[in-house]
Amino acid sequence: MELCLALDLSTKEQNLALLNMLKNFPKLWIKVGLRSFIRDGIPFLESIKTINPDFKIFLDLKLYDIPNTMADAAFECANLGVDMITIHTSSGKNAMQTIMERLTPLKKRPLVLGVTALTSFSNEDFQTIYHKNIQDQAINLATLAYQSALDGIVCSVFESLEIKKHTTNSFITLTPGIRPFNENNDDQKRVGTILDAFKNKSDFIVIGRPIYKHDSPKSVVENIYKEIEKCKS
Ligand code: C5P
Repeated sequence: MELCLALDLSTKEQNLALLNMLKNFPKLWIKVGLRSFIRDGIPFLESIKTINPDFKIFLDLKLYDIPNTMADAAFECANLGVDMITIHTSSGKNAMQTIMERLTPLKKRPLVLGVTALTSFSNEDFQTIYHKNIQDQAINLATLAYQSALDGIVCSVFESLEIKKHTTNSFITLTPGIRPFNENNDDQKRVGTILDAFKNKSDFIVIGRPIYKHDSPKSVVENIYKEIEKCKS
């Protein structure tokens, strides 16, 4: 299980200071989301690699548009040399297949993950919009993503195992909404612990505020890695 740090702080300087504190965790994945990328752009991705070239970059822009526009955007993300990107599975099979056909011939391409149901949705919120049970719909969307040759999906820890059963064990699940040590849930609704993620075979956990809002982000990351090891033993 890999750890992705969500780099969502309010200035570039704060993000870079945080990374400097954490540069001795070479296995860390760095998640650059909408806030940081819109504000700081491509040079920011280069700054991350300058701090530690072993950091893997996850560009989490959650693309959603018509198939050709999504494939063009995914192609441009791939050209940035990032290691993982996200698109929305509700864009449909045609869009997902068009993206994979566009990226597969590249010499090096990022892992492509499809967002199923956001972890900020409760089942009630979800029903209001989609008139479907959240777990059923997450499995349905994950199956479409699998059939479209995506590398994996984004879901809550509570759907991860079921999605693997409906696809394969190697189909990647990345789970945000992790609160490792009973922190505030913030706007997240389907929240779990590291042990929940481990039991549900999550491949990547995403953690933001519990790390960057803490007085000692380094000690939180150390404790997260210890907790992951504890789950394995
Ligand atoms: O601060 P927190 O740990 O809640 O951060 C979670 C991160 O994961 C945020 O950057 C958010 O954009 C992202 N994310 C999410 N739910 C998804 C997909 C991404 O919370 N389904």
